[in-house]
Amino acid sequence: MTKKQKNAAPGQPSEGPVPSRLAVLGAGKMAGTLLQAFLRSGLFAPENIIATVQHEARAAQLAAQLGITVTTDNLRAVRESDLILLGVKPQSVLEVLHQIRPALSARKALFSIAAAVKTSALEEAAGVALPVLRAMPNTPALIGCGATALCRGRYVTPELLALAERMFLSVGRTVLVEEKHMDAVTGLSGSGPAYIYIILEALAEAGVKVGLPRDVATLLAAQTALGAASMVLQTGSHPALLKDAVTTPAGCTMDGILELEEGGLRVTLIKAVMRATARARELAAQ
Ligand SMILES: NC(=O)c1ccc[n+]([C@@H]2O[C@H](COP(=O)([O-])OP(=O)(O)OC[C@H]3O[C@@H](n4cnc5c(N)ncnc54)[C@H](OP(=O)(O)O)[C@@H]3O)[C@@H](O)[C@H]2O)c1
Repeated sequence: MTKKQKNAAPGQPSEGPVPSRLAVLGAGKMAGTLLQAFLRSGLFAPENIIATVQHEARAAQLAAQLGITVTTDNLRAVRESDLILLGVKPQSVLEVLHQIRPALSARKALFSIAAAVKTSALEEAAGVALPVLRAMPNTPALIGCGATALCRGRYVTPELLALAERMFLSVGRTVLVEEKHMDAVTGLSGSGPAYIYIILEALAEAGVKVGLPRDVATLLAAQTALGAASMVLQTGSHPALLKDAVTTPAGCTMDGILELEEGGLRVTLIKAVMRATARARELAAQ
């Protein structure tokens, strides 16, 4: 289970102006998705957002598409903002921080979605005691159904944490975890959509095998997964109890479950999350 972290320690800033001018550095797939959600939800006005990308052509295209300023100049973007959202690839994070360092101050805040880069590394590279927060969203954020884990660095105030929650709620659900759990989050919900797609693909194939048209089988598999997931989230019931409710004595479901157990689905999924978590840990240590 996740454990809520304590508020900022005594002596650390406990309040301050909530940032309103946002710089999104590296507005690619994930940060671009977030950017669009912030605009849709009205969290930031278009004139208060500046985004950056690596290529000029992409900057022009994104500016035209979103109606915001998009540049390739990270330093300018940070000078014009008080909240920085880092969306570049993990291997570019330190280089970008080095670039923007002259414009950073303790009055600004840095949020990062880069996998595997710790808040302590971000704080150190920033070179000032500014609030740093990490977020690990997943790809269903694209349709507002994401799962995002947040963890805070040393100087994050309750007001900034609340702002981060509002920002990531615009693309789905959020949980607050201790930083030591971020690799596990990467292994479970970060990589998780891929596991579920494989399960859905297999269920759809199974439907075809037992005679259903492929589109019907795919729809039934996906809606069944959505329904089951919603039951867990909305009822708060343990998945095992919900499973028991589907399993009538001597019925069909029990036969299906027997096959799943014999095939080792449960253990396989556990091992998949363990392996992905270990890989995230390895990347974090590099
Ligand atoms: N995708 C996911 O499921 C997911 C989930 C959680 C977290 N994340 C994190 O999100 C980050 C980005 O992943 P992504 O999949 O969105 O990658 P992506 O689509 O390749 O986005 C990276 C963006 O960074 C821009 N960029 C590269 N170097 C730059 C620089 N020096 N200054 C400014 N912008 C620069 C690129 O610009 P151009 O467009 O011009 O090339 C691109 O728009 C990663 O750190 C990853 O760990 C991703």
